[in-house]
Amino acid sequence: MKVILKNIEKEGYSPAISSYIGEGGYAALRQALKIGPEKILSEIKKSRLVGRGGAGFPTGLKWEFARKSREFPRYVVCNADEGEPGTFKDRLILARDPYLLIEAMVICGFTIGAEKGFIYIRGEYFEVYEILQKAIREAEEYHFLGRNILGSDFSFEIDLYRGAGAYVCGEETALLDSLEGKKGQSRVKPPFPTFVGFNNKPTVLNNVETFANIPAIILKGGEWFSRIGSELSPGTKLYCLSGDVNTPGVYELPTGISLRELIEKYGNGVQGKLKAVLPGGVSSGLLLPSDLDVAMDYPSVQEAGSILGSGAVIIINDTHCMVDLAKRCAEFFDYESCGKCTPCREGTKRAREILTNITRGLGEVSDLSLLKELQEVMFDTSRCGLGQSALNAVRSSLEKFPGEFREHILEKKCRLGICPMK
Ligand SMILES: Cc1cc2nc3c(=O)[nH]c(=O)nc-3n(C[C@H](O)[C@H](O)[C@H](O)COP(=O)(O)O)c2cc1C
Ligand code: SF4
Repeated sequence: MKVILKNIEKEGYSPAISSYIGEGGYAALRQALKIGPEKILSEIKKSRLVGRGGAGFPTGLKWEFARKSREFPRYVVCNADEGEPGTFKDRLILARDPYLLIEAMVICGFTIGAEKGFIYIRGEYFEVYEILQKAIREAEEYHFLGRNILGSDFSFEIDLYRGAGAYVCGEETALLDSLEGKKGQSRVKPPFPTFVGFNNKPTVLNNVETFANIPAIILKGGEWFSRIGSELSPGTKLYCLSGDVNTPGVYELPTGISLRELIEKYGNGVQGKLKAVLPGGVSSGLLLPSDLDVAMDYPSVQEAGSILGSGAVIIINDTHCMVDLAKRCAEFFDYESCGKCTPCREGTKRAREILTNITRGLGEVSDLSLLKELQEVMFDTSRCGLGQSALNAVRSSLEKFPGEFREHILEKKCRLGICPMK
């Protein structure tokens, strides 16, 4: 069942507007203009689509909040920052089927009463930026974008905006500050962007993959979508399989497929012996080989003690040292912390220092409880999701591989010879 990659996976499909139209593209927009905003909202709510950017918030509800607001102008923003290590699914849609995203954003604008949209694209996606630029120009030429879309009295335009390489700018409020020309740092929530977003006006901000589901929902109905995949969070999901797996790649599969099937059937198995999995990138906690039967949907992965996030499934085999892995995760978050709030700014630094010491044979047993405490404090008191999840992987490495940490501290030994013990 393909909802998002249905065109991309067709042989000979090229990212050209004629190909998109040839595959039924923009029929959903025509249908949307015919049925009107209330019916669109009702179909999206019926679909039970939740955001694919990480937080899993119900999309229909988000659109409804913006539509019901009394403020104008309203905005549509697409989060194409795709900064989570191990995530490379949005790039595929942007590069190979950009018209799908454009169509969905126009439908969103029509639904919530917005005339302006932005795509905030990861700065390193140079080629994709040009593809999108061309796609926007073409959509304007065909009157799918711009003034009086398809002869209606609805007008909508899209601007492209490039990020500058900060991971935190994928967080929705930091993204909005960056889009407004400010330093990309998170805002306090609430208020949420749906009510106080771009230029303090109501803004629907969705991930690329979330938007990519909309045209199919309009054409086939929310009921149809809600019957795909897992009962708890329906639809398909783009899983980005990477790390020590034989066939890495982006796989569109119904939600709820087991982690085992994803790795064995689609990834063609693990290279070497499986040690652990990060199911939602470096912001998620580790799963173990004993967790392989977990259903890959948002609630089930959470129940297993981790998060699905954007679907960055990183496979780790037994050639990796978990202390080294924890240290690398801490380094990443220390580097990317925007520094606005103390728990994250200081906490990521301390975690990095402690873990660097442990990998050098300079750790103490008390460091382990200190790291756990740091994780708890940062989770409870950090201002945004970056700080709240920064030590998830560290904490779960400590809990699931305590022996490796103890060996580094007590025996000054890295059993895999990876850490530069002094
Ligand atoms: C540090 C951090 C980075 C994030 N990066 C991204 C990103 O690159 N792309 C994305 O869509 N969402 C990202 N998110 C989640 C967004 O804040 C937001 O929840 C999402 O874009 C909303 O869209 P959705 O409802 O369609 O998922 C990030 C969140 C955090 C805390
Ligand atoms: S949690 Fe980290 S990234 Fe988020 S606002 Fe605080 S310092 Fe910035």
